[in-house]
Amino acid sequence: AREPRDRLRVAIQKSGRLGDPARDLLSAVGLTWRESRDRLFCFGEGLPIDLLLVRDDDIPGLLTEGVADFGILGRNVLAETGLDGTAPGLEEVRQLGFGPCRLAIGVPEGWDYEGPAQLEGLRIATSYPAITQDWLRRHGVDARTVTLSGSVEIAPSLGQADVVCDLVSSGGTLRANSLKPVETLLESEAVLAAPPGRPEGVRGELADLLLRRLDGVRRVAD
Ligand code: PRP
Ligand code: ZN
Ligand code: MG
Repeated sequence: AREPRDRLRVAIQKSGRLGDPARDLLSAVGLTWRESRDRLFCFGEGLPIDLLLVRDDDIPGLLTEGVADFGILGRNVLAETGLDGTAPGLEEVRQLGFGPCRLAIGVPEGWDYEGPAQLEGLRIATSYPAITQDWLRRHGVDARTVTLSGSVEIAPSLGQADVVCDLVSSGGTLRANSLKPVETLLESEAVLAAPPGRPEGVRGELADLLLRRLDGVRRVAD
């Protein structure tokens, strides 16, 4: 049998928008690490709190499987894996205030958009099929989602889809692809996520300590 873990593990994005600010936040609460050479695992030095550097999409699975105790990821990813059944029941423990964006439907610039009914029968390219289908269902619209893991915005000009449902931050990516946002499905930002309940033993105490310190630096920052 595996030994129970006595160190806390926090999974963050290895590269991408949320990785550096997540790491900066954890540094600001006083954590330090000895980096491994491949930079996938950072061993905590002062406190026994280690970092896992992974793809954001893998964080819900790591939490569900108990490989990580906390994860910092976009609410959009947490919502998608909660809805599609791959990582149900994870909790949004704190919202972290960085990485704001929204999940939006983007249609060709020239369209006169009048409402969800206009999407009936169309193909929607997205990396968030569960959130998109949930929204369509709630608006009584029947449309097909085409699931792509990246470069979603190019699908309409390639003829692979009619519209997109993707994250919008500055709006630059949609504009560069002659699309415009017309519906917001979800307001997102970086969040701290965890499996339900407190970890047992020493990890539970470390979890409480980390949350207290996070609340402390966030209060100072607000
Ligand atoms: C999102 C989204 C767009 C871009 C939009 O990707 O998929 O590509 O950001 O931002 P803009 O409105 O400022 O142009 P993200 O960086 O989250 O990476 P990912 O799609 O690989 O998760
Ligand atoms: Zn991603
Ligand atoms: Mg992208």
